Amino acid sequence: TRLWKIEDNTQENQIAIQEAAELIRQQEVIAFPTETVYGLGANATNHQAVAKIFEAKGRPSDNPLIVHVANREQMKPYVAAVPPLADKLIHAFMPGPLTVILPSNGTIANNVTAGLSTVAFRIPDHPVAKQLLESCQLPLAAPSANRSGKPSPTKASHVYDDLYGKIAGILDGGTTGVGLESTVVDCTGEIPIVLRPGGITKEQLEQVVGNVMLDPALAEQHDKPKAPGMKYTHYEPEAPLWLIRGTADFFQSTVDRIEREGKKVAVMCSEQLAASLQADQIKVIGSQHDLTQIAVHLYDALRSFKKTDVDIILCESFPQTGVGEAIMNRLTKAASVVVDEEK
Ligand code: TXA
Ligand code: MG
Repeated sequence: TRLWKIEDNTQENQIAIQEAAELIRQQEVIAFPTETVYGLGANATNHQAVAKIFEAKGRPSDNPLIVHVANREQMKPYVAAVPPLADKLIHAFMPGPLTVILPSNGTIANNVTAGLSTVAFRIPDHPVAKQLLESCQLPLAAPSANRSGKPSPTKASHVYDDLYGKIAGILDGGTTGVGLESTVVDCTGEIPIVLRPGGITKEQLEQVVGNVMLDPALAEQHDKPKAPGMKYTHYEPEAPLWLIRGTADFFQSTVDRIEREGKKVAVMCSEQLAASLQADQIKVIGSQHDLTQIAVHLYDALRSFKKTDVDIILCESFPQTGVGEAIMNRLTKAASVVVDEEK
């Protein structure tokens, strides 16, 4: 596995990105930063190259990948149509943390779409991702660059921990911006449907296309979600995560109860809750008044606990407004238990 450190726009950067692009043209797999999380990219038009992504991640083959392109023109050779509402969303939010599901014309490698008749596209808004796409002149199939089941990587070191020795290279562009994956929107029907909440909020989408639905499977967890990837174990930390819903007093009594059983507790919470909490280990992940910061720090925090130091991780719940929808979606998936004060 090659490692390239990308600092500000230097001559060496150009060379590193060209080397990475050349490896992609040779059907190898490269990890690169995007504005959401690190992606694991391969030539989306080549079945064997794409197969290497599934292999490196240990990803189930029925879970389709997002195709990353440099601009909207590069989607056209692979889609049957761009429905008008998709067109509006593309204009408004791309490049950016949005993925649109479009009807496929069947020309993209069929392991990218896991045999579906639709294909997911995204135009990343990150200088390194953009230069890589420009340089290799290929659409890149790219899931998040973690081992399947682990939190998505927001730093090159996370990719290194999960995939070193399994992929051709890692472009290290520092910490990613949003910290959570893109919003996935199915644009093949009359009304756009959010299959996965993410960096672009439902409110933002509605300002551009009016009525937007959330996939009902997001609310009812026993329903089979339409984005195939949503059904697997996800974002798992090394110790069980309990998501706590209730007051600061209830949170404290839960910590005390577990500590009395002789177990080591770690807490992941806002600075506001931390100020009134007594616990052995407290990891502050931002302010209740700025959920975008909570999103930025979430996956790094989930990865920071080692099973040797912690028996149970307790995490605060956040309001499901704006990016809070995506934060709570990921935390609910990461959690083995939701502890509700009301019940
Ligand atoms: O921000 C992101 O989207 C990151 C960066 C690297 O771009 N990528 C990412 O990819 O999160 P991945 O593979 O971890 O998640 C892709 C999600 C999965 O839930 C998958 O099931 C869904 O998109 N998806 C892909 N193609 C689809 C399709 N044709 N129909 C429905 N869902 C699809
Ligand atoms: Mg993923």
